[in-house]
Amino acid sequence: MRPLRIALLGFGNVGRRFASLLPADYGRVLRAAGARPRITGISTARHGSAIQSRGLDPARCLALVRAGRTLDALHHGPPVASAADFIRRVPADVLVELTPLDPRRGEPATSHVRLALRRGLHVVTANKGPVAFAWRPLQTLAARRRRLFLHEGVVMDGTPLFNMARRCLPGITIRSFRGTLNSTTSHILGRMEQGRSASEALREAQAAGIAEADPSLDLEGWDAAVKGCALANALMGASVRPSQVRRRGIGGITARDVRAATAAGSRLRLVVRGRRSGRTVRIAVGPERVPLGDPLSGPGADAALVLETDLMGEIGLVERGGDVDQTAYAVLSDLVAVAEAR
Ligand SMILES: NC(=O)c1ccc[n+]([C@@H]2O[C@H](COP(=O)([O-])OP(=O)(O)OC[C@H]3O[C@@H](n4cnc5c(N)ncnc54)[C@H](OP(=O)(O)O)[C@@H]3O)[C@@H](O)[C@H]2O)c1
Repeated sequence: MRPLRIALLGFGNVGRRFASLLPADYGRVLRAAGARPRITGISTARHGSAIQSRGLDPARCLALVRAGRTLDALHHGPPVASAADFIRRVPADVLVELTPLDPRRGEPATSHVRLALRRGLHVVTANKGPVAFAWRPLQTLAARRRRLFLHEGVVMDGTPLFNMARRCLPGITIRSFRGTLNSTTSHILGRMEQGRSASEALREAQAAGIAEADPSLDLEGWDAAVKGCALANALMGASVRPSQVRRRGIGGITARDVRAATAAGSRLRLVVRGRRSGRTVRIAVGPERVPLGDPLSGPGADAALVLETDLMGEIGLVERGGDVDQTAYAVLSDLVAVAEAR
């Protein structure tokens, strides 16, 4: 069985969950795909970095960061000077990029992905930035280097969406999509239907690890806009940027608005829509009343997406109450694809 050397860039909610599941369940899945996984490096912003070519012990790494300490004590070799230095030096087959989203430029994640692909590593990410800002050039680079650039976790966590389109929908053209793709706003609006305040519901989303590090990215619709671009670029061949999205958040929504929507047999949700228009795809994000019974009208933090296609009619995907486990699973499913491709 071939080793699969995994380098984690970012060790927050998703990275830690992935590391905690790797020794048991995730390891079993990867071994079934013919790969013996080991984490050969982890790098963070404030929690230090560690590289060990023979593999780090995930439990020790988790214990250190949970105790508020850095990973440096586990590091072998000269100190890691930066994320770029880590990417250049870590002995790895695949870089898993899990740094926070920058919705205005997609950096530094896009540069991390580019550097890793140039070095000949496969790249798996849950960070929407590189997909929303540079999907086409990064895929071109990956193809040139015969490596994979996979990003299942950027929309709807681990629900098979990009991998489904890549593997199971040959020849399909997607004409449009609509979705409720931001769990934080769906959770907040769902809790407001139950009479809770928006601020209390946001705290719950933060405690569950589903809110962005900067929650204004959720509330102002940036996260949904970036996901809309990721879908348009990766599934519809577009090259749209988040700044081109017509965007309204949920900031102005009151308890009264939520009650009025419910009384009218609907739910208020932050909806992202994308439609092909000539050679481009137009994307809009904003609160909408979604009729009960529509796939997008699920309760709480549910995420849903409807794709309108040419040969398969409408395809709907629903993720019930996604959390960080589903995103960690997205990383696993992409790693299985890497293991199978080698
Ligand atoms: N959480 C979810 O459910 C979810 C769902 C879908 C997608 N995502 C995406 O997945 C990614 C990771 O999410 P998360 O919740 O794990 O984020 P997080 O908890 O904020 O963790 C981010 C990690 O990245 C590190 N970091 C920040 N800037 C860095 C840099 N320049 N170089 C190296 N490391 C850096 C941080 O270091 P420190 O530890 O030192 O702060 C931290 O370890 C994000 O892009 C997010 O949008 C998350």
